[in-house]
Amino acid sequence: MPSLRNVLKGLALSSFIVFSTAAPVKEGDACGPVSPPTPPTPPTTAPIKVTSSSSVPSKTASSSTTTPTASAVPRIPASGAIPDLNGTTLALSYVVIGRGIQNYTCSKAGSVGAAIGAIATLYDATSLAYSNEKMLHTLPALAVNMPEDKAGKYRTAAKALDLKPIGHHYFDFNGTPVFDLNVESKILFAAKKENVNAPANADKGPMGTGAVQWLKLENKVPYSFGTSVGLGAVYRIETAGGVSTLCTADSGVISVPYAAEYWFYS
Ligand SMILES: *[C@@H]1O[C@H](CO)[C@@H](O)[C@H](O)[C@H]1NC(C)=O
Ligand SMILES: *[C@@H]1O[C@H](CO)[C@@H](O)[C@H](O)[C@H]1NC(C)=O
Repeated sequence: MPSLRNVLKGLALSSFIVFSTAAPVKEGDACGPVSPPTPPTPPTTAPIKVTSSSSVPSKTASSSTTTPTASAVPRIPASGAIPDLNGTTLALSYVVIGRGIQNYTCSKAGSVGAAIGAIATLYDATSLAYSNEKMLHTLPALAVNMPEDKAGKYRTAAKALDLKPIGHHYFDFNGTPVFDLNVESKILFAAKKENVNAPANADKGPMGTGAVQWLKLENKVPYSFGTSVGLGAVYRIETAGGVSTLCTADSGVISVPYAAEYWFYS
């Protein structure tokens, strides 16, 4: 039986073929937003504390001989911004690819739209994050430049990589960002804590407007309209697209395609 890693490699290879025929992707896009090189143990730019769940007994008698020392818990890359997003003491629970739209309203022509929310489908990429984080980081730029399918969904990239839908991201009536991982019966009502600009080389999305900021959000407490279950924080990173266009006289609501990685902690 082929190893998971080889299966993923194969899937990724086929996905690149699918992507390159389905959408004319710019040369270099397959590499995605290039993250600044991350030193092995960066003192200040390593946003995520490796938690105890990452320490796997490496030399116990019961260790399987066929399993190499388990890979460490993946860590989110540095954005390059100073100061960067801060870490969390919580443990990594899910890594997902979000693909959807950011909505903006316009008050007057020539102004920048004001953010009013987002809606996205979330695809589980947790095992890919553990097996091939570099490949994971190529996905938002690929996903955002793929067209919707006939059902108006963004499943093409996920299908190509065999990523399963795990839930949705939306804003509730109160303007609170919600991450509903309904497949896992987990939900996060979130409050934005930190934001930094996306790296300058991040994919600007199909509308060419630029990549939305990287964010750190935490459980919103107290919150009268919802209670988080099983999730304590989420980072939005490796963003692609999503920045508003300039308003025209008749803009109304502007919907801008975006994709990102969301890293959930609990
Ligand atoms: C990270 O924490 C430090 C210390 O509290 C703070 O000064 C900095 O602004 C934080 N980073 C961001 C992106 O907010
Ligand atoms: C965003 O705009 C789309 C229409 O383009 C709409 O269907 C959706 O409900 C809007 N979502 C939010 C959160 O504003």
